[in-house]
Amino acid sequence: MKVTIDGIEIDVPKGTTILQAARMIGAEVAPPTMCYYSSLKTSGGYCRTCIVKVTQGSTANPTPMPKPVASCRTEVMDGMVVENTINKDVLEARKGVVEFLLMNHPLDCPVCDQAGECSLQDLGYEHGAATTRYEFPRREFERIDIGKYVQLHMNRCIMCFRCVKVAEQLTDNRVHGVMHRGDAAEISTYIENVIENDMSGNVIDVCPVGALTDKTFRFKSRVWFTKPVDATCDCKKCSGKVRLWMKGEEVLRVTARKDQWGEAEEFICNTCRFDRKKTSDWKIEGPSQIHRSSVISQNHYNHLNELKVKVMKQQKHLDLYLLIKDRNKLV
Ligand code: SF4
Ligand code: SF4
Ligand code: FES
Repeated sequence: MKVTIDGIEIDVPKGTTILQAARMIGAEVAPPTMCYYSSLKTSGGYCRTCIVKVTQGSTANPTPMPKPVASCRTEVMDGMVVENTINKDVLEARKGVVEFLLMNHPLDCPVCDQAGECSLQDLGYEHGAATTRYEFPRREFERIDIGKYVQLHMNRCIMCFRCVKVAEQLTDNRVHGVMHRGDAAEISTYIENVIENDMSGNVIDVCPVGALTDKTFRFKSRVWFTKPVDATCDCKKCSGKVRLWMKGEEVLRVTARKDQWGEAEEFICNTCRFDRKKTSDWKIEGPSQIHRSSVISQNHYNHLNELKVKVMKQQKHLDLYLLIKDRNKLV
């Protein structure tokens, strides 16, 4: 099926959503997402940040769709034409979505563990307005401990449902979900029940904001002061492929490795995440690839790698030169 997104045509298999097609083209046309997560079934359709304008429904029926549609939930039709970044109305509507997401959100960034890797911060920066029109008091909740290692800070939750999908799909005994409706809706553990199973820590990685945080990492460091390193271990419960966030020799936290869309490449178990906090527990693969625009990339790993390659090349040339010089001497 042929679909055109922001003027770029691509062939995709039947059943592909507009979002997936846009991701196949590349980050420059891919809409932002706050609730969709490719490895979690039935995710998406809650936040509306991924809206796009369908200016031509298909070759068979070229009528434009009357309203912006959620690209994560809309499948492409043959001949469909979609506008994302080139459509002023979409950008304006997305600004409204961001304002809505921030309506009840606290101004916690300076003390929030998610700062520096928060999808809402990025979204607000790229698509948000500088002010809000909301004049009412923000809703407030007490913090809740979800088990030994995870803390829920409901004030920051944007109700994306990703953590509920993790609980449903990765764990065998779901004890948390969304209670109530509308303004009163909240993620709950059905009061003080706790999540105690091997994969529950993944709720931290899928949460796009700082609502679910790792208690073992709380307030230890700003994320941009740590160095992300890819490491593996021989784990029986998961793939053992993780990212270590280190300060000197100390492992401050362990997370899944995330791809360019901010999604975990593979989910990891709680033993890897919370119990293996020594460098000797891990086989280090090397520095993680972090996107240049991320605040975390101030560690300049790419630059260091480039420098290393340059030095190695120079060393090779020097060795060769010395070898030739020696041979010449011998002749
Ligand atoms: S969740 Fe994101 S936007 Fe909200 S306070 Fe934390 S860093 Fe800031
Ligand atoms: S706690 Fe996080 S992952 Fe769960 S619904 Fe709220 S924002 Fe989404
Ligand atoms: S990412 Fe599509 S609705 Fe949230």
